[in-house]
Amino acid sequence: MTTKQQDPIKVAENTEYILAERRDSVVLLTLNRSKALNALCDSLTQELTEVLDATERDDSVAAVVITGSAKAFAAGADIKEMQPKTFVDVYLEDFITSSWERPSTVRKPIIAAVSGYALGGGAELAMMCDLIIAAESAKFGQPEITIGILPGAGGTQRLARAVGKSKAMDMVLTGRMIDAAEAERMGLVARVVADEELVSEAVAVATKIANFSKPAVLLAKESVNRAFETTLSEGLRFERRMFHAAFATEGQNEGMDAFINKREARYSDR
Ligand code: CAA
Repeated sequence: MTTKQQDPIKVAENTEYILAERRDSVVLLTLNRSKALNALCDSLTQELTEVLDATERDDSVAAVVITGSAKAFAAGADIKEMQPKTFVDVYLEDFITSSWERPSTVRKPIIAAVSGYALGGGAELAMMCDLIIAAESAKFGQPEITIGILPGAGGTQRLARAVGKSKAMDMVLTGRMIDAAEAERMGLVARVVADEELVSEAVAVATKIANFSKPAVLLAKESVNRAFETTLSEGLRFERRMFHAAFATEGQNEGMDAFINKREARYSDR
């Protein structure tokens, strides 16, 4: 059974908090709730899920970039929505699990382009992406402790895996914000660029990835992600099988032939 394709731009025409723009085979998604510093309200996370579903279904989309505004990538879960909730409310609705995690399950490459605040759920959303490109103005933090809770969208887990125990504890237990330079030194972000170059740089990185053989990109992404789920020997075994699988793709022969004959590769994505 083939899944019906759905143009993410068309889906986003009906969304309030997500803007979608096509840049060739890359879709740029902009969080659009700047008055609340892109606080991640239920409607926003729901819309993001719907648009990401559509990017996954659309074969002409090869990579996704998520960005916010100059002042805020996202300042976290919506505190005004959360404040009246009880344990039974969040437990029964399975808050976070039921609606937030789509970016972490997207198979296509997904890049977070972060400018300004990426706090709480905003930092966690960025960490759900494959890599983070930060503007010089970016500030990351897990300030949940300052409002009587703790990170609930992966901040204690993905952050610890990204930067190690001591730095993660520092951020999670004190709520301290770090700037882009410190985030890069810690290994939380892949690159830091000038504010005005953030989106063009992130789209350029996404386009570069989009132009490689699609099966190789997905195999590579899956293999790196496996590193966070298993032991070294199992991870190496998995990588070896994925490496072998790449030899079943047309891209392997095409890429190597192009190298040998000093020409540009033209991938069929098969
Ligand atoms: N939820 C709801 N509204 C928020 C918000 C949030 N997380 N962050 C900012 N806003 C709103 C403010 O209430 C304000 O709205 P009003 O104009 O209606 O008052 C507007 O956005 C602008 O914010 P500020 O006036 O506070 O802007 P500032 O420049 O003075 O401060 C800031 C910026 C330091 C980011 C500050 O807004 C702040 O500390 N925000 C909260 C950050 C936070 O605690 N995030 C964690 C949330 S919990 C979470 O994310 C749980 C999880 O793991 C899933």
